[in-house]
Amino acid sequence: MAEEKTILVTGGCGFIGSNFIHYMVGKYPNYRIINLDKLTYCGNLDNLCELVDYPHYSFVKGDIADSEKVRGIFQDERVDVIVNFAAESHVDRSIEDPDLFLRTNILGTQVLLEGAREMEIPLFVQISTDEVYGSLGSSGLFTETTPLRPNSPYAASKAAADLMVRAYTKTYGIDAIITRCSNNYGPYQFPEKLIPLMISNAMEDKELPIYGDGSNVRDWIYVEDHCRALDVILHHGVSGEIYNIGGACERTNLDVVKTILEIVGNPESLIQFDKDRPGHDRRYAMDFSKLQGELDWQPKVTFEEGIKQTVTWYIDNQDWWQRIKTGEYMEYYERMYGNR
Ligand code: NAD
Ligand code: DAU
Repeated sequence: MAEEKTILVTGGCGFIGSNFIHYMVGKYPNYRIINLDKLTYCGNLDNLCELVDYPHYSFVKGDIADSEKVRGIFQDERVDVIVNFAAESHVDRSIEDPDLFLRTNILGTQVLLEGAREMEIPLFVQISTDEVYGSLGSSGLFTETTPLRPNSPYAASKAAADLMVRAYTKTYGIDAIITRCSNNYGPYQFPEKLIPLMISNAMEDKELPIYGDGSNVRDWIYVEDHCRALDVILHHGVSGEIYNIGGACERTNLDVVKTILEIVGNPESLIQFDKDRPGHDRRYAMDFSKLQGELDWQPKVTFEEGIKQTVTWYIDNQDWWQRIKTGEYMEYYERMYGNR
């Protein structure tokens, strides 16, 4: 059995964080997981409801940018690894209102880094994104040495956080790793992102809004493959390094949406071409040969399998996304946590 560890997961009530907690609890039942989450509009306690009585899991409601809260956790618990998922994550929202992105994504990361420095936490893992590299033309892949050229306020805030992580490793000698992953999809993804929005709209016979002409390309990875990569990296990754994670699965947005309509069984006439996203990155594609060569990881789930599993999950869990779309889940949080 793997040696016992205590992992502080931030943003564990979000899409990837909750999938990661489920994955880790399944694979390492003796690990202790502390989940620090502010429960913003996309943090959903439902994602982890099976773990309410699980003795090795605890939830702390709080903001990663609140240094007192963060210090309190480190004083109460001996944390071995911090995995920082917490972020404002949606590009369109960052275009509307960038302020909160700077506070959570940059300042919040710095507060956690400061905690890691003060308390000499053995490892800090920063969950970053391919968007820090900017946009590709029709050929080539992002490598770990591609210059940072973020194009949206979201991407710029993530790039700034990455640079702060680097500064803390160089200046204070903390042990940290940065991971940069491409577009994830799978269960528990908030229905504002392309895939869950299109699945849920298709199921409700609503229009499917595609920005521009639908020819922008993303490199899709099934969320469980991302979790497996993080597992390998946090156990065997080298401190100070950056690891790209990708799906080797480039698809245009139009292809993705047509595939979803085919699985749901609805006509392509639901597609509605909409005005383009400002600064819309053309194409993302990851070179993950470093992770593959050094740590023997590669994605396992094909897009064809993953998208079928994902549509099936949204069909089987209509209550989950309908509660989100109606806002009912927010009222529940208010009742549970409003006065904390
Ligand atoms: P998400 O929006 O679904 O979840 C974010 C979580 O962070 C939520 O639970 C939210 O409540 C929490 N949170 C937000 N601000 C907080 C704060 N100040 N303090 C504590 N908790 C806070 O996001 P996601 O898609 O799961 O992404 C998770 C991480 O992975 C992010 O850092 C994102 O940049 C990165 N990432 C995402 C993708 C993707 O395709 N979704 C790809 C690569 C990297
Ligand atoms: O690449 C990793 C990034 O992937 C993560 O860092 C971000 O947190 C995550 O949100 C995601 O960013 P994208 O902007 O690529 O994802 P989104 O789902 O918003 O959009 C995917 C593509 O679909 C993009 O080209 C814009 C397009 N799109 C999106 C929406 C929501 C549409 O055409 N219509 C839509 O309604």
